Formats: sequence, C-alpha cells, structure tokens
Amino acid sequence: MDYKNQVVAALKPVLNEYLSDSEIYEKIEVPKESKLGDLAFPTFTLAKVLRKAPQMIAQDLVEKIDQSDFEKVEVAGPYIDFFLDKQAFGEEVLRTVLDQKSAYGDNDDGQNGNVPIDMSSPNIAKPISMGHLRSTVIGNSLALIMEKNGYHPIKINHLGDWGTQFGKLITAYKLWGSEEDVKADPINKLLEYYVRFHKEDKEKPELDDIARDWFKKLEDGDEEATNLWKWFREVSLQSFKQIYDKLGITFDSYKGEAFYNDKMDEIVQILEDKDLLKESRGAQVVDLEKYNLNPALIKKTDGATLYITRDLAAALYRYRTYNFVQSLYVVGAEQTNHFKQLKAVLKEMGYDWSDDIHHIQFGLITLNGKKLSTRSGRVVLLDEVLNDAVTLAKKQINEKNPDLANADTVAKEVGVGAVVFHDLKNERTNSFDFNLEDVVRFEGETGPYVQYSRARAESILRKADTEVTTDQLKITDANAWDTLKALQEFPSVVQRAAAQYEPSVIAKYALSLAKSFNKYYANSRILADDAEKPARLALVKSVSLVLEESLRLLGVKAPDEM
Ligand code: ARG
Repeated sequence: MDYKNQVVAALKPVLNEYLSDSEIYEKIEVPKESKLGDLAFPTFTLAKVLRKAPQMIAQDLVEKIDQSDFEKVEVAGPYIDFFLDKQAFGEEVLRTVLDQKSAYGDNDDGQNGNVPIDMSSPNIAKPISMGHLRSTVIGNSLALIMEKNGYHPIKINHLGDWGTQFGKLITAYKLWGSEEDVKADPINKLLEYYVRFHKEDKEKPELDDIARDWFKKLEDGDEEATNLWKWFREVSLQSFKQIYDKLGITFDSYKGEAFYNDKMDEIVQILEDKDLLKESRGAQVVDLEKYNLNPALIKKTDGATLYITRDLAAALYRYRTYNFVQSLYVVGAEQTNHFKQLKAVLKEMGYDWSDDIHHIQFGLITLNGKKLSTRSGRVVLLDEVLNDAVTLAKKQINEKNPDLANADTVAKEVGVGAVVFHDLKNERTNSFDFNLEDVVRFEGETGPYVQYSRARAESILRKADTEVTTDQLKITDANAWDTLKALQEFPSVVQRAAAQYEPSVIAKYALSLAKSFNKYYANSRILADDAEKPARLALVKSVSLVLEESLRLLGVKAPDEM
C-alpha cells in the first residue's frame, strides 16, 4: 500500500535509462498542500543528463507516461504532480485497517532481535523525580514502538542501589532515624535524613569519615549494613511500584547497580590484560584522549569502583545475556559524557557491539518555569503531579459528561494519560515547561484531545448501532480525503518513530489524525441514511482503531466514553 511505488511504476518505462527504481523512489516528495497533488516528482536532477530545462523535462515525461492509475497527472514548473485515484485509495486504506485492526502498521524490521532498554532507573531512598518520569515513559513507549517494528524489547530498571551515598544514608539513619518513621513514610523520611546529612556535614566533616566506614562495611558484607541496605531498597521499590502501577508500566528486570558488584573484577581484569589501565594520582583510569574525552575513572584510590565500572559490567552482561541487536539507555542529556566514555571504553576493550549502544537522551522538565531537583529539597513528587492531573480531569468530566458511569476510572486514564502524552509529544531532546492546567485541557495539542476525538468516534458508532463491514467502502466526499491519507501514513510513521527513537513522531501523528477527523466530523453528515453511510462508518471505525493504537504505543489509555 505504498503509493510511491505506483509513481515509480509510472515513471519507470520512461526513466529506466537514467535512474534505477530506487533512485526514482528516493526522489519522490509529498507536497505540502494537497492542491499540488499527493505525490510529486522533481526533475531538476535530470536537467544535466538530458540537457534540458527541468520544466521541459516534466512536460515531456507527462506526455509519455501511462496515467491510467491516477486521477490526474499535472506539470507544475519543474515538478510532476500525481493525484491519486481517491476512490481506490480510500477503499484500500479502509479495507486494510479494518482487516488488520490493531496489527495495522506492524512490520518485521526487527526480526525479533533483542533490544534491552535501560529505563526509569531511579535511585534508592530518593523520590522519583520528574526527570525519572521522562525516562520511564519514553522508555516504555520506545519498548512498545520497537515491538511493533518486530523487535523484542527488554525493559530494564537499572536501579541506583549502590554507591557511597548508602554510607551517608546509614550514618544519618543511625544518628537521627527511627524504624517507625521510615515505615510510615519511607521515601520522604529517607530523603529527609539524606538532606540533613548534607547540611550537617558542612560543619562536621567527621560525618564523612563515618559514612565512608559504613560504605566500606556494606561492601565487605557486614550484616547490619547489609540489612539496612536491603530494607531501604525494599521500601523504596515498593513506593516506586505504586507510581509504575499508576502509569501502567512494568519491567522485565530490576537488576540494579548492586547486581554487578561481583562482576566488576572481571572488567578490571580485562582492562588490565589489554593494558588499558593507567595510574593517575593513585586511581586507575582508561585514557580516552583519542576520543577527545576525559579519562574514565574505573577504580578510586581506596579501591572503590564507580558508576561507569558498574555500567561496563552491565553492558557486557546484557550482551552475553541477550546478544542484543541494539542496546538503549534512556537517560537525561546531562549524562551524555558518561555514555560517550562508556562506549569508548568498550570499544577499546575490543567490543564492536559498542556501536549498537545508543544513549537515548532527553531534555530537562520544569514545572511552571521552575527547575525540579531532589538534592536542594525542592521536591515535586511525581505522585502529586499525577494525582492533581486526575483531579483536573475529573472536574472537566463532571462539567462535560456528568452522567458518565465509570467517571473515576476514566478520570484516571485521562489525567495520567495527559501527563504522559505531554511528555511524549515534545521531541525528547527538547527541554520543556509543564503547566498542569494546559496539559489536561480537552482542546489543543493534548492527550485528552486525542482521547476525546476517539471517544467521539466510538459514540458515533454506538449511535449508528450497525455492524461495520468492508462490503461498501466507497466515499466520494472530498472532506474525507485528509483523514484517509492520514490513516494510510500510519505504517510509515511507526517505522520513522523507531528509526529516530522518537515517541513524539507517534504523538504528533495522533494529534494530526484527530484534527483531520474532527474537521471531517464537522463538515459531513456521517449518520445520514444514504448509500455511502456504511463507508463513512468504516472510516469512523478505522480512525478509532488507529487512534487507539497510537495511544497504546505511547502508553496512554483510550476510554470509549469521556
Ligand atoms: N540512577 C541514575 C540516575 O538517576 C540513572 C541510571 C541510568 N542507567 C545507567 N545504566 N547508567 O541518574
């Protein structure tokens, strides 16, 4: 159903001396305005070979080609504009969508290759920040998009559950903490201890020594230290899971940094064997000058390993376990240097698969113009943001549809969906501001707008109360054209989203499909009793299916009524 091939077929007989099929294909453009046709072929590049002005070439070619598969073919300056046979096009799109349903747009590009996706990965004993939200929802959507493209994604939560901060946390807990308090409100209490530690150690530097001792004990397997660590990890994970539940997101693995503790000796050994370790002020580093990067610090003076050492072990473990075709890390742009170093060290170790590692970076989120961070104590709990979004959604539902039966469930799907959609509609590398009122609006470029458009489609179908079939798919109404074209684009949109690792490609597509559908809805009498009614209902059903599938790929629910 790729209409560019139809253009190739038409041009092939007259151009095969000069251009191969794929060269013709590559040159075909989609005009910005539909009055310039549906597909266009530019003739500039032929001017040299044919020694003729592009306009002349276009004129000559149009006279020679077989136009019977098209509604019309026109010359516009140096372009040949092809107008597709709307009837045949529309029928084929609708038939395909209705036959394939949610499988519409699936492809086998990935050939079932494994793609581990490192995502979310919050730090134990700290709240999940809005930054971690981005990683979670982008990662989840990428997993769904990769799966639709025939890959086998593996969602990995690389928990920040190891490091010197646990020495600090244990110290703080022993000094000021209580079991009861932690049990009552784990994350907030643990964060409070941690923040207090950082405040007090400015005046009492001896706290740092105590913290270092505790971390050493933890590394040596001391029972008290280990039990406290396990407990902190467990209560933190429980509270993270509440948020994941709210988002409807699951993981295939929770192997965090601590999992690699016993796998780092091997890394250091390999680095030594390959003569890659150098001493620098007592520490062990890998020189990365030829990559224009700072040296990677592998082992500190006291023998402690670092974040990157654990990531080296994790990368190798993932390669051995999954034999991946790609390995993705959905982590903020502030860690760009870290991932460059990681790839460079792996390359130095002789692992060519380091080329298949991709840092999927993203920009910063601000809320009402303010930066969000956990260190400074200015904590905006994701949980609160989600709850507020649900409340706002509920308010709007009460105004618009006071009799809605399952209003609370729908409010959850709309409120949470709105936050997720807003995160994903922005190109991931952009930083963006967050204003909850705007995000949860039912109009404009929002998730609720897409959900609402689909619910409208479902409501039309309920009203029609007839089964949608593929028996009569002929639509002559020109108003339907933009929507039919949008439906036909979906499979290529799915591919583009995967190639660019960009959920925003899907989100923007969903917005534009919803927009053209709403325009169609406003300008045609869908339920009028005439011969084309079954085809119009088929169009409505197709829009509903594709909007639902688009939302699914973003991790957003599609309520039938709202
Ligand atoms: N825990 C880290 C943080 O919050 C993110 C970990 C990302 N994943 C990785 N393999 N390094 O900054």
